[in-house]
Amino acid sequence: MFSALHNRRILLIISGGIAAYKSLDLIRRMREEGARVRCVLTAGGAQFITPLSVSALSEEQVYSDLWSLTDEQQMGHIRLSREADIVVVAPASANLIAKMANGIADDLASTVLLATNKPVFVAPAMNVMMWENAATSANIALLQKRGVKIIGPDNGSMACGETGAGRMSEPNEILSTLRSHFELPGPLKGLMALVTSGPTYEPLDPVRFLGNRSSGKQGHAIAQALHERGAETVLVTGPTVLPDIAGIKTIKVETAREMLAACEQALPVDIAICAAAVADWRPQEASLEKLKKGSTKAVLELTENPDILANLAKDSNQRPRLVIGFAAETSHVVERARQKLDRKACDWIIANEVASDKGFGENDNQVTLLRRGENNRVVESAWPLQSKDEIARRLVLEIIDYFTAA
Ligand code: PMT
Repeated sequence: MFSALHNRRILLIISGGIAAYKSLDLIRRMREEGARVRCVLTAGGAQFITPLSVSALSEEQVYSDLWSLTDEQQMGHIRLSREADIVVVAPASANLIAKMANGIADDLASTVLLATNKPVFVAPAMNVMMWENAATSANIALLQKRGVKIIGPDNGSMACGETGAGRMSEPNEILSTLRSHFELPGPLKGLMALVTSGPTYEPLDPVRFLGNRSSGKQGHAIAQALHERGAETVLVTGPTVLPDIAGIKTIKVETAREMLAACEQALPVDIAICAAAVADWRPQEASLEKLKKGSTKAVLELTENPDILANLAKDSNQRPRLVIGFAAETSHVVERARQKLDRKACDWIIANEVASDKGFGENDNQVTLLRRGENNRVVESAWPLQSKDEIARRLVLEIIDYFTAA
């Protein structure tokens, strides 16, 4: 399942309460959905669960002490709050809620909460009388007024033997609130998109490969623009130095065959856009040992790689509703792009003039969009030189029009 929590950085603050045991499950599920979880465990929280179990599940160091020199050196309390997309307090004790409402910062958790500039979600857990106490109600109302989102609490029987409101919400409910926070409402909501990006590396031996100059900038920009307009986006990328994009499931591959396998795994999707510069050929055999000068003929035997775009466009069972390719050409750009549109059976193709200082690796790009229109007529529109981000946004507007008209 793809989750809007994918690649999100969550700072989870666990305060004292029997419900702390549910936080372990919460961490596990957040991780399963692709989130990166860093935890702060209060002294109260550590009475119920151990730092070791929190650390084992989050696969991160657990932070507890405001005055620990090593912790502060590694990850100061300001950085803890800055290097997160959201802060979640679960369980949130009456005491921690009161500190938050009153700006008290006397331990790591309350200091992080005072220092954060990120959205804060609070899942209270306490005895029913504590929850219903006028002081807690006033604190909660104040936090809500300041934009803190309160999740729960649930009604039910409690560890103390009493019954009523105060049980921490179940991890499922907390996760669904967090997911909706990240889900974008855009016009492509409900549609799934697959984007290929970057180069492929085809190994010659353990240290050498056949590759190309693609940086992934164009493909990544398209994935980002699709995501911003609400499409659930999977990005299959060859090696690049670009950072992962929050909210997008990114699958990293090296070779054309790995890229094809990852794309096939991502099906079914509604939209497929192939911006990757896939090597058409790979060495017939990759040597297991580093090739030595003089020990081999200086002739490379190559074999053809599968064509990912053509495979997606010709898939009779799971063909995406809109398949878009790129055509990177050094001359006769539009004419050759037309030929590729037919040969690869895609719906649209983006003709992209390339050279050693054009297209590949640059921030700007100049393209012509070719679309198969009525009666199979190809309609051309040349776009001016602009940034790859602008091209991505414009392409996504065309895609929105296409699906709106459909
Ligand atoms: O990554 P950047 O530095 O930002 O540069 C962007 C770009 C120039 C790489 C990009 O805009 C671009 O033009 N990508 C396509 C590059 C390419 O390999 O074009 P092509 O004409 O060789 O391939 C035609 C189409 O078939 C492309 O959609 C390609 O992804 C696809 N293909 C090609 C070969 C293959 N084995 N499998 C494929 O899917």
